[in-house]
Formats: sequence, structure tokens, C-alpha cells
Amino acid sequence: MVNMKIAFVGKGGSGKTTLSSLFVRHLAASGLPVVAVDADINQHLGVALGLAEAESAGLPAMGQRLPLIKDYLRGSNPRIASADTMIKTTPPGEGSRLLRVREDNAVYDACARPVELDGGAVRLMVTGPFTEADLGVACYHSKIGAVELCLNHLVDGQSEYVVVDMTAGSDSFASGLFTRFDITFLVAEPTRKGVSVYRQYKEYARDFGVTLKVVGNKVQGQDDIDFLRAEVGDDLLVTVGHSNWVRDMEKGRPPRFEHLEEANCHALQTLHSAADATYELRDWERYMRQMVHFHLKNASSWGNEKTGADLAAQVDPGFVLGEGLVATA
Ligand SMILES: Nc1ncnc2c1ncn2[C@@H]1O[C@H](COP(=O)(O)OP(=O)(O)O)[C@@H](O)[C@H]1O
Ligand SMILES: [Mg+2]
Repeated sequence: MVNMKIAFVGKGGSGKTTLSSLFVRHLAASGLPVVAVDADINQHLGVALGLAEAESAGLPAMGQRLPLIKDYLRGSNPRIASADTMIKTTPPGEGSRLLRVREDNAVYDACARPVELDGGAVRLMVTGPFTEADLGVACYHSKIGAVELCLNHLVDGQSEYVVVDMTAGSDSFASGLFTRFDITFLVAEPTRKGVSVYRQYKEYARDFGVTLKVVGNKVQGQDDIDFLRAEVGDDLLVTVGHSNWVRDMEKGRPPRFEHLEEANCHALQTLHSAADATYELRDWERYMRQMVHFHLKNASSWGNEKTGADLAAQVDPGFVLGEGLVATA
């Protein structure tokens, strides 16, 4: 049983979207079921997966369908009185509806679209474009919050993958989103700026058992590799060089995936193996505990006030998410 939630984070321009899209293509080419989620400030994952700009811009935005998402997920959970009192960190409990990668459900109907890739189709979900105002607080939170809610209600089954292209910002740290992944790939160019995002992430992640690996990108030679190795040590998983395949795709002439450069195929396989290897670190109890931790934090810092409810009461103490089935004490 291998099933994974994987995030790509990093500085803008480092190659998060490029590498997430290549990784999604790699999984699809291996015949594996994938939900790809674009939660990056610049919404480019659709285009990187081969959609035309207009198609990509026309994708349904999760951020605009929050009431539907909340209503579906809360199901008949008696601890959640209404969608209005459900915030991004509200944990599932008895009566909640859970999401599975492979099933059909109302959330996918509303928010996911199939994208055909060489090897098979994947589901693509997008938060929707962030506007200037979103970068303040509330709306940005709600857009990214839609992703967090879905991940918190997801029970992923055998050999299923959720890949999230994500901005490494303070918002994902405040909400707990950064703790929702089996592995986080931090994409870094061999520059001081690239590495400083890694340091900040590592610092936030330290107390939460986050598995963080650095993927060096736009690496041009041994000196670049040596630099990254010196800066991030054993956290450096693999490096990727300039890809003509990517360049051709961006010229609007996408080659078949099997023509991706050998070295880059190998790098993707390394990411895949690293993700699968984290499976034994899975700990649903810890996953639930962290969910509750961040929920209580958000409840007291703004949620209770905003909703006028005592959101701590939403926590179902006996509930633990689990694979295939749900255990209640
Ligand atoms: N390995 C690579 N080979 C060729 N071009 C790349 C590579 N990685 C990134 N790029 C290019 O760099 C630019 C920024 O990459 P992108 O994935 O959009 O970054 P991010 O999502 O982190 O902002 C894009 O034009 C992309 O095509
Ligand atoms: Mg991007």
C-alpha cells in the first residue's frame, strides 16, 4: 500500500510548477491515479500540463466553491452546525464525508477536470487566481483553505497520489497546510535566495515532523551541485538541469513524454522513490493531532470571533482518519 500527498514549494520562478507538472506526467505515464492541485500564486499548472491558456483560465476555482466543498465534507457531522461555521482547519469527525483519490464525488464534479496526458488522465483542481486583495488575508486564506480542507478529509488508498503546486508562504504555515504532506519537495536554484527559502521552511517545519527534500533546479554543473550540497547537506535529494523538453513544450510544441531527457526521467524516478519511501513514516494519529493543534490555534486567534461559535467544540476526540476505513473510538 503506497499512497502519497506531495507538495512542491519554493521561491517564485524556481521551477515548482515545471517540476510538479513533470512529476504528474511521470506518475500518469506509470499508470498511477493522480489528483494534481494548483495552489500556486501564479496559476500555471494547467498550462504546464498542456492545457491551452483559455482552457486553463476556464477551470473551476476551488476558492469560489467553498460553500459547496464545506457542505459536502461536513455531511451529517453533528459537531459542525453549518458550512458558515466551518473554517479551513475544521477537522473531520463522525458523520463527515471523506474524499478518496479515485472515486467520483460532488467536490470533484464541481472543482476537478480531467487532463489527458501520455499514459492516462489525471484530475486537475485549481484554487483560482489570486488577486492583489487576496494577498492581504481573508480571501487568500480561503482559497488556499479549500485545499487544506480537502487534504484534511482525504483518505488516500493504494498507490494514489495527490500532488500540490504550492507557494511557500507564511499562510501555509499559519494554517498547518505545510504539515499535510507525506513529503515536501523544496525546489531551489543554486543561489543564495533559493537556499534562503529552504532555511525558512526548514525552521517552520522542524517541530512538526515534516519530511523536506531539496530538488536543485536549473543546475548547470558540478559547481552548482557543490554549492547546494554545502548549503543544504543531506536534504539535497536530486538536481535537475535545463530541459529542452520543457523549452519545446513552452514553445507550444510538446514532445511526447517518453522523449523527456534521460537524466530528468531519472530525477523524476528519484522523487517517486523518495515519496514512496516516506510511507512507513505515516502516522494517522500524529496527522490528526496536528490537524487539531492548528484548528484550535486558528479558532482562538480569529475563527471563534469570525464565526461567533466555539470552534474547539468541532473536534471529535475519538476520531482518527485512516486508510480505507474510519476508526472511531
Ligand atoms: N529544468 C528546467 N528546464 C527548462 N526550463 C525550466 C526548468 N525549470 C524551470 N524552467 C523555466 O523557468 C520558468 C519558471 O519556472 P516555473 O516552473 O514557472 O517556476 P515557479 O512555478 O516556481 O514560479 C519557466 O519559464 C520554466 O519553463
Ligand atoms: Mg508556478
